[in-house]
Amino acid sequence: MRELNKLFEKNKGWVKKITTEDPNFFSALAKEQKPEYLWIGCSDSRVTPNQIVDLLPGEIFVHRNIANLVVHTDLNCLSVMQYAVEVLQVKHIIVCGHYGCGGVKAALGARQYGLIDIWLRHIKDIHRRYIIEMDSLQDEDEKFRFLCEKNVIEQVANVCNTTIVQNAWKSGRKLVIHGWIYDIEDGMLKDLDVCISGLEQVESTYKMA
Ligand code: CO
Repeated sequence: MRELNKLFEKNKGWVKKITTEDPNFFSALAKEQKPEYLWIGCSDSRVTPNQIVDLLPGEIFVHRNIANLVVHTDLNCLSVMQYAVEVLQVKHIIVCGHYGCGGVKAALGARQYGLIDIWLRHIKDIHRRYIIEMDSLQDEDEKFRFLCEKNVIEQVANVCNTTIVQNAWKSGRKLVIHGWIYDIEDGMLKDLDVCISGLEQVESTYKMA
């Protein structure tokens, strides 16, 4: 017996809605995808890329993990990035974090959660990097929001520090890396103004020849 019938019903309704507006939508999209954006975001069920920016299937290539981390040894994330940049030739990479991120919250505390602690350790390292600024903030919620933002900024740097992105710039390609944060309280996106669009903006330690 098939379960989750409700979801299959919703799928039918969705297909009908789209094909009523554009009967060729799926057949055209089946031939090729040409997304302009790679979205690296959190797995959080409330932060759904296509819906947030109101774009259709085919318009965003997506990688999501807990707390939108870009770890330089994570083959999964790096493979997505390489494919997006080199094959799909996306023009923008958006790292989008969000306030109220459970991963960031967990990294702020001392409680053990099991295997995921290894993943969250990357956020603890960011916390340590900004310890002076963090300690100067009185309010716990302010600290939480601050770390959510700094986490995005650090991941933007991690994207730029890859040879994938640096080689694209060296070949003269237009590729812009953005850091955004989403507010789950009101659905609004905020640009953290950390746009990076060329090798000259990369920290010298991480610049590859
Ligand atoms: Co999150």
